[in-house]
Formats: sequence, C-alpha cells, structure tokens
Amino acid sequence: MIKKAVIPAAGYGTRFLPATKTIPKELFPIIDTPTIQYIVEEAIAAGIEEILIITSANKNSIIDYFDRNIELEVQLSAKNRQEELKIVKDVANLATIHFVRQKEQLGLGHAILQAETFVGKEPFAVLLGDDLFVGKIPAIKELVLAYNEVKSSVIGTMKVKKEETGRYGICEPKKEIRTGFYELKGVVEKPQPKEAPSQSAIAGRYLLTPEIFTLLRNQEKGVNNEIQLTDSILKLMEYQAVYSYDLKAKRYDIGSRVGYFEALIDFAIKRDDLKEEIIQILKNKIKDL
Ligand code: G1P
Repeated sequence: MIKKAVIPAAGYGTRFLPATKTIPKELFPIIDTPTIQYIVEEAIAAGIEEILIITSANKNSIIDYFDRNIELEVQLSAKNRQEELKIVKDVANLATIHFVRQKEQLGLGHAILQAETFVGKEPFAVLLGDDLFVGKIPAIKELVLAYNEVKSSVIGTMKVKKEETGRYGICEPKKEIRTGFYELKGVVEKPQPKEAPSQSAIAGRYLLTPEIFTLLRNQEKGVNNEIQLTDSILKLMEYQAVYSYDLKAKRYDIGSRVGYFEALIDFAIKRDDLKEEIIQILKNKIKDL
C-alpha cells in the first residue's frame, strides 16, 4: 500500500513573476481554491495518509494555508457565517501534512531528497505542486494501481509535441506491457527535439521506490545546473525496472500563464454556481473578437 506522498513546492515560479515574488504559485487560486489544495485532495483520494510538502524561504503562506486561522474562525462564527466557517476549518483537517524547507533551490532531485527521513523504506508518491490533474480516477491513483501490478517505480506520462520536448523529462520505452504502459530503457531531462527518444513526457506524477534516495544523495548536477530527479531515475533503471504509464486524467500546467488560464475556464464552466454567467461572458467575448 502507498501511504505517503511528497509534494515539492519550493521553486521560484519564475514564469509567473512578478506575482510569485510574494505569492507561491501553488497558492494561485483556481477561482477560489488554491492549486495545492486540489493536489492534496488528489493524494487523499488515492488512499495517501501522510503528506510532506517541501517549501522554501518566502513560502510560509503554504504552511499557514493548511493551518487553522483562529482569528478568522472567531470572526466568521460571531457573524454566524457557518458555511464559510466550515470551508475554512475543513482545509486544516484535510490530512496529516508535514512540512520541510529546502534551504537552497538546487533542483527537483534535491527537493525530493529532503523527503528521505519522512519516506523511510516505503514506496511513495510524488505530485509536483504546479501540475494539476482532473480525471475520473485521480492521476496519482492511476499510478498506484500501475505500481500494484508491477511493484516497481512508475512515472506518469503524457504525449507532447515534438517541438516541446525541451520542457520535459522524456522517456525511452523498452517494452510495451499494454497500450500506454511501458517498461523503460531510459529517460532524459529536457532534450532538444532532435535528441528526444520519444514524445512521451514526464507529467509531474511519480510512484517511486525508496532506493531513489541513495542515488539522489550522489546525484551530480545536470541540465540547467540542477540536481535532476530524472537523472537519478535513469540510474535507478540499472538496479530495478522503471515503468511509464500514460495518465488518462487531464493535466493543467499551473506554472504557465496559458495552462493557468485554461484551468480557470474549465473549472468555472464545471461549477453550477458560475457556469451560466461564465459561458455567457465567453460567448460575448468571442462574438466581439
Ligand atoms: C519537472 C521535471 C520534468 C517534468 C516536469 C513536468 O520539470 O524535471 O521531468 O517533465 O516537471 O511538469 P520543471 O517543470 O520543474 O522544469
């Protein structure tokens, strides 16, 4: 059983400056709910019981968000705003959430290494804080189910355009287990289209065995002068089989302006309280173009 999840949320969010100067991108609201809350809920829906969020300096608001806010609760209670009071309290009771700070932003691999003590010797889930998924089956549950079949690390993947490979970790398949589920021969971080072994990209969800930590501890810097998780996953393949699994859930890249905007629209038009008004606004805008 997979009981633990790690959510790295320590990056600078440079693609979203100046907002990310003080607001962590993981707290950007999708209408009224921060992305990271949806990610925590995804983990819980997959049976995860304990979550470690990796933060960094200037990101204490993430810790505050999952804590209680007694002053606000007292205010809401005094005004008899029961509905809002419940929403505010529920956030603080979502799951057992721990926090650790990554003291230097040395890369995703280095961020995951901060989870070693928390994870111990169990397989664990990784959910990147700026990749939001919506699906009938939560994305990380798709990987838990795949892990249960092969009992080895599984990376969530998606197909990307040839010209986009330089933005992702790209997988090199070895053997097809069945459609969309492969044993891997290799994985490479952010290759140029010419060098990319496929168009199957790492989508921000991983199910990893704890042996990854030994490799991360000794991982030298890679692309962008960062300690890359992808590079240690490649090394893991020397000792254990690693698989990729094409996620059926839809992904939104909240770290990009377009991805964030798409998420806002999609979430709004799915909400009964907003649907009609938003669709009307969109229709009028399109008419005026
Ligand atoms: C990270 C990973 C990359 C993966 C991507 C998915 O890159 O290093 O392999 O494809 O997340 O979002 P980043 O977006 O942090 O540069």
